[in-house]
Amino acid sequence: MSRKYVIAGNWKMNKTSEEGAELAKDIVLAVGQQAEVEVVVCPPFTLLESVSKVLEGSNIKLGGQNMHPAVSGAYTGEISAEMLRNHFSSYVILGHSERRAYFDETDNFVNQKVKVALENQLRPILCVGETLEEREAEKTLDVVKTQLVDGLVGVSAEQTGSVVIAYEPVWAIGTGKVATPEEAQVVHAFIRQTLAELYDSAHADKIRILYGGSMKASNARELLAQEDIDGGLIGGAALESNSFIDLVKVAIDQD
Ligand code: 13P
Repeated sequence: MSRKYVIAGNWKMNKTSEEGAELAKDIVLAVGQQAEVEVVVCPPFTLLESVSKVLEGSNIKLGGQNMHPAVSGAYTGEISAEMLRNHFSSYVILGHSERRAYFDETDNFVNQKVKVALENQLRPILCVGETLEEREAEKTLDVVKTQLVDGLVGVSAEQTGSVVIAYEPVWAIGTGKVATPEEAQVVHAFIRQTLAELYDSAHADKIRILYGGSMKASNARELLAQEDIDGGLIGGAALESNSFIDLVKVAIDQD
């Protein structure tokens, strides 16, 4: 089964408009015209406009880092799916562990967002992953299964064509402690098996499952070589043009 790799940069709360435009320019120049790997950048909301202008005419896609499920209204500080679309986003990261941990986002709330994103032609990147404590208690697969199943309630088999899953073990995020390719593959295979149970294997085989957590060019080759790893959701290594471009190139070579 050939699935096109996705390499998505999650810039988190970093960069001014000018810095973001610079970074995006470098990425466009280096890998903006190739189509073997789907490259996505997810800047903070305040940079969507400046970055979208830089991406115009390239194959690089834009994504938000979060959104609110309501159409509009009194939700101070939030932004809607329509607003993301209005700024040329085609992806949105949902249920990131930092949103779950610092902003108490529940599986149910994440699920509402996933459904609204899909209704608005945004491709959700649904994040799942266990904490160190959960891994040590051998709860990894249970935790991931709950986040996945509850996150996809009400999503039809047809809609899964637009869904991307990101497995991000919390203990590997920003710590430099990357999961071994084997450790990651076990969970990725489990995610695909769970998707096959939820839908069927034909649909599950088409869903891209990204790895996230201290991924960089130097460890990407081995991770991407795993059967069920279809790309990466990149934090730290997405903030500097060379490290991100090198990572994209690894994915292109592996293709
Ligand atoms: P790092 O690549 O910095 O570990 O972050 C991963 C991540 O959280 C991407 O969403």
